[in-house]
Amino acid sequence: MESNGRKRKTLLELQNVSKVFKKDGSDVLVLKDIDLTVDEGEFICVLGPTGCGKSVTLQIVAGLIDQTNGSVILDGKEEHGPGPHKGMVFQEYALLPWRSVVENVEIGLELKGIGRKERRRIALEQLATVGLAGTETQKVHEISVGMRQRVAIARALANSPRILLMDEPFEALDALTKEEMQIQILNVWEKTGTTIMFVTHDVDEAIFLSDRICVMDINPGRVKKMLVNHLPRPRHECMSRTDKEFNDMRDEIIALYSSLKDEELDLII
Ligand SMILES: Nc1ncnc2c1ncn2[C@@H]1O[C@H](COP(=O)(O)OP(=O)(O)O)[C@@H](O)[C@H]1O
Ligand SMILES: [Mg+2]
Repeated sequence: MESNGRKRKTLLELQNVSKVFKKDGSDVLVLKDIDLTVDEGEFICVLGPTGCGKSVTLQIVAGLIDQTNGSVILDGKEEHGPGPHKGMVFQEYALLPWRSVVENVEIGLELKGIGRKERRRIALEQLATVGLAGTETQKVHEISVGMRQRVAIARALANSPRILLMDEPFEALDALTKEEMQIQILNVWEKTGTTIMFVTHDVDEAIFLSDRICVMDINPGRVKKMLVNHLPRPRHECMSRTDKEFNDMRDEIIALYSSLKDEELDLII
């Protein structure tokens, strides 16, 4: 696939992935035959209403849970289990409150056995990438929630992941901070070239961020449509609701959910 003028190769492939959970003694099909490819360097958003299986999909890619059927292939190799090459960023940033900002970014590097000096060098570099240079000695409880989420992103980046997996990371933030973080993550993506798979149930967020949007359906969770996002970057200006291209894309997504009942349509639109 060619996007933004760059030739790309496939990084991640989900082939026929399904997931069955036991619920009250019976089997529930939560994900059905997910086929999905993500290109190297791509920003892909997975969009769908609450309960459609976005988090389960991301956790399968992360290796945190096993699929019932199908394969997850990264860099041409079948994946089993978690690893630092798949950096996870959650809504709850899971930082250690008693540690300083830089010590939190160093956690994964410590686990890998990287020496103190090198650890610090990498951590400071990644803090600069997320716009937090100069905050390294602050304690996590002293900084804002938006900054904490940036620390979590820097921590994932410090492991040089092949792919950054983000599960509704900005959901708990107020509108203004959310917007700042969306711009920040695009900066990080442009600076690092890291492939990003970003889960959201916010239609505007998916349109603002993505190269492509994997629109999911519910009951069972499945891919409804893969949309290519042709909106030019940077998008700050064209994201106004009066912009035609933006509205067309929005309308296209909303129309995809026209068959859902109101109570199922749990999307931010
Ligand atoms: N560990 C689990 N055990 C049983 N059911 C689960 C588990 N995790 C998720 N589910 C179910 O799978 C479905 C999809 O969940 P999830 O991926 O969290 O949805 P989303 O992230 O799109 O809101 C939901 O019906 C949820 O209840
Ligand atoms: Mg979820």
